[in-house]
This record gives sequence, structure tokens and C-alpha cells, in this order.
Amino acid sequence: MSGGGAPANLRSVINQPEVAVTMHADSSSVLATIERLYTAHGTLVYGEQVNQIQHAMQCASLAQASGSTDAMVAAAMLHDIGHMLHGDAATALDTGEDDRHESLGADWLARWFGDDVVQPVALHVQAKRYLCARDPGYLEGLSRVSTRTLHLQGGPMQPAEAEAFERLPHARNAIDLRRWDDLGKKADCETAPLSHFMTVIERCLLPA
Ligand SMILES: [Fe+2]
Repeated sequence: MSGGGAPANLRSVINQPEVAVTMHADSSSVLATIERLYTAHGTLVYGEQVNQIQHAMQCASLAQASGSTDAMVAAAMLHDIGHMLHGDAATALDTGEDDRHESLGADWLARWFGDDVVQPVALHVQAKRYLCARDPGYLEGLSRVSTRTLHLQGGPMQPAEAEAFERLPHARNAIDLRRWDDLGKKADCETAPLSHFMTVIERCLLPA
């Protein structure tokens, strides 16, 4: 993909100083940029009990505790990076706008990671809509913020949408990620440090 071919919503953020990584950045600058996004924007709170970096690390810890692959641990860690790339996700939430963080994040990550990382990120909002349609009680268990954003994201899937979603190659992984997403919102939950998860992310980079 070239810079000119980037999707419009991605083009709006890739020139921001904190994400000014060239399309051909080497792996060390990509990792530095990811780390910088978390340290610069990770303290943002979007109405949950945890901030973005705590949420990401709790989700990645849950993935690791379940014995998942490095790719799934990385996906869990990176699944909401689109909120940080967006630049003003908190205002979007306040004003009832869908920041489309899943596609923003997936489009950005796709330059350096394979589908095993990118697709669960891209599909984790669809997985929420799927679970609302297919898992009795799931909707009632959603956090207040997740319930609010569900309606911005299209609400529970219709039966035909749910059937189509099930056929996607990464649907199962997206559902697993979504379960960790719902659980990784606990106040005062200890995790390994960011450096631990950065090492896992590094192992998932596509060869240069
Ligand atoms: Fe999340």
C-alpha cells in the first residue's frame, strides 16, 4: 500500500507527529511508534473503570492466560489502537459519533502485521454485534459505554448478518478477542509491564 492509497480515515491521522511513521518504516520505528501512542494517549479514559493502556494490557493478559498465540496476544493488546490514532475519540464518544476505531486501527496495523493480528482487530466490533444477536444474556452484561456504542455501531446483527459473520475465517478469533475486551475493564488489576507485551508484538511483525 502506498501513502496515497491509504483509506481516507487513515490518511487523516498518518501525518500527525506522533504517528508520522513512513510507509516503509523499519520494525524498530514501528514499535517505538506503538509504544509512544500508548504512553502519550494510554491514560485516556472513555467512560470505563480503566484507561486505554490498562485495558489493552488486561486484554493481552487474558489472551496469554488462555494459552493463545502471540498473534492473538498482540491483537488483544492492539485492538483499540484506532482510538489513539483517531486523535479525539473521547469527543467522538461524547458527541455520539462512531470513531470507527476498529477499521482505523486495522488499516494502520495491516502495514506491519499479518491477518492473524489484523483481522481480529478489524472484526472485534462486529463480534460484539454478533454476540448480542446470538448469545442470550450477552447484551445485558455489556458495560454502559459498550451498550451506548453498540447503537452507533449498528446494533445487534440480523440473522443473515450473523450467519455471514460466522463464515469469516477470523470470526472465532474475533469473538475470543471480544470476550477479553469485555472482561479487561477491571480497576486495580495487575498485569505484566508494557515492555512484556511489546516483546510479543515485536515477534508478530511481518518480515521487512
Ligand atoms: Fe477494547
